Amino acid sequence: MIFGIVLAGGVGSRMNTTANMPKQFLPLGDKPIVMQTLDKFVTCDRFDAVYIGTHPDWVDHMAELVETHIVSDIPITVVAGGSDRNATLFNVIAKIEEDHGEDENHIIVTHDAVRPFVTLRMINENIDAAQKYGAVDTVVPATDTIVRSLDGEFIESIPDRSKLYQGQTPQSFNMNLLKKLFAELTEEEKAVLTDACKICALRGAKVRLVEGSAQNIKITTVGDYKIAQAMLGGIIVD
Ligand code: CTP
Repeated sequence: MIFGIVLAGGVGSRMNTTANMPKQFLPLGDKPIVMQTLDKFVTCDRFDAVYIGTHPDWVDHMAELVETHIVSDIPITVVAGGSDRNATLFNVIAKIEEDHGEDENHIIVTHDAVRPFVTLRMINENIDAAQKYGAVDTVVPATDTIVRSLDGEFIESIPDRSKLYQGQTPQSFNMNLLKKLFAELTEEEKAVLTDACKICALRGAKVRLVEGSAQNIKITTVGDYKIAQAMLGGIIVD
């Protein structure tokens, strides 16, 4: 089976707004950011179910938003998230297994709630590549020169930009493969390996690249939020 997982368990501490809610609940166009993202996921009829990992304090609110904003035949389930992104992801994986059992062919397409400009093309290419290769990252070629510095004061090296990409999401996996690789990590590794594709790459699993887009931005700061509003043609407010 194929599952969409929208990760919305964070608090958005870098956003620094006066709004009394995590950034994924801020309005963007006609609905909250996380609902814009979810809307993109439910346009993909290959999903058997979509799960939203949600900050534990906001589970009821999220369920109400789904009820209000989303019209879809695909079952949507809100799951309480954990203390970091991987903890949220694995809470959802546990719920998927509770609902649908274990299966070596289960595919998960995981996505940041705060990347509302994901496209159906990206989602479909993630599913295809995850079925074929087992692990997938969505990336764009690096456009700026990347400078490496070990002390933050002087350049150590400038890597060849033609081999550098910036990671986005979706990231997609054969669910059993990701579970197995995660279970093999030490507690210290779990604390630092916050990127699921990095876990796969470090453990020798091949991670296939899918083309993202410059528009698939992650809303991290107020500046990103303004850009997102401008992209929708909305009114930009401070
Ligand atoms: N996320 C999650 N569970 C957590 C932490 C983060 O599902 N415990 C999700 C966020 O909700 C977000 C995505 O992971 O959709 C990307 O993380 P980021 O942009 O860093 O979000 P926050 O952790 O909310 O932001 P900040 O680091 O500024 O607090």
